[in-house]
Amino acid sequence: MKLSKALSPLEDLRLAIGFGLIPTVKAVLRNPTLLFRPVMLSRVFMKQIWTPFGEGIDKSSRADKVKIMQHAYGKVLDIGAGHGHAVNYLEKARASAYIAVEPNELMHAEIRTRANAAGYTEAKGTLTILSCGAEEVEKILQAVDHVDTVISILTICSIPKPRENLTGLIRQVLKPGGQVLYYEHVQSPLSDVAWWQALWSPIWAVWFDGCRMDRPTHIWMKEMVDVDAHGKEVGMWKEQEMWGKEGEEMEHLFWHQSGRFVKHDEV
Ligand SMILES: C[S@@+](CC[C@H](N)C(=O)[O-])C[C@H]1O[C@@H](n2cnc3c(N)ncnc32)[C@H](O)[C@@H]1O
Repeated sequence: MKLSKALSPLEDLRLAIGFGLIPTVKAVLRNPTLLFRPVMLSRVFMKQIWTPFGEGIDKSSRADKVKIMQHAYGKVLDIGAGHGHAVNYLEKARASAYIAVEPNELMHAEIRTRANAAGYTEAKGTLTILSCGAEEVEKILQAVDHVDTVISILTICSIPKPRENLTGLIRQVLKPGGQVLYYEHVQSPLSDVAWWQALWSPIWAVWFDGCRMDRPTHIWMKEMVDVDAHGKEVGMWKEQEMWGKEGEEMEHLFWHQSGRFVKHDEV
């Protein structure tokens, strides 16, 4: 891998620190207990950087988002909703409700503003914003019951035990015949790129709220299994389709994959 590409996260880190450091230091001066709450501190920083980064990424991934989101229908659960950019891609006539799972409450005002502008409101019961993580399946079930579509845009890189958490969520919250739509950066199939991803991941995760570059999400999705009524493992999907980002070189630390996976009918 070319050294210039291998070191490209340095520029993103420089930008992130430029956007996030001073507001985060100010937040610590206002509330010094943040120093003893690393999760909260990381969320304060993430909130600051996601304003410029989220906008930029939304623009650069518009075509990829359109391609997956055109399939969204019914009750749509957006895991790691961030600032709610995904709601802008929903077709109101097909997507009856938007449910944003976002543990960082500092992001909720942005989600609400975007969702309301797109016609989804809490007053009408078409918008729900949950403060829990995607791994808190019971809380999600209690709040919204089952859903037709689960979307994940650049989030599986950040959830704590991604394979286990995602499987639990899809087994329990997604209706039979429902679908998962995702757009994620994943572990590269090129061993030298994967080596650099593994090297960068622990550093990157500190500044980007746990985000890791080295997760083979697309492979986990393909291999996901459910358990039938007799306790036997069965494949999760009755249909699956995966594709890459148009024009993206293979030699890329943020190598993207998208997918549409349709869950089996009742087992
Ligand atoms: C890189 S951002 C992507 C945001 C949004 N999906 C987008 O595309 O603009 C990752 C998001 O995942 C959220 N997140 C972190 N841990 C999570 C978890 N355990 N469950 C759900 N979301 C989580 C973060 O707070 C952050 O908003």
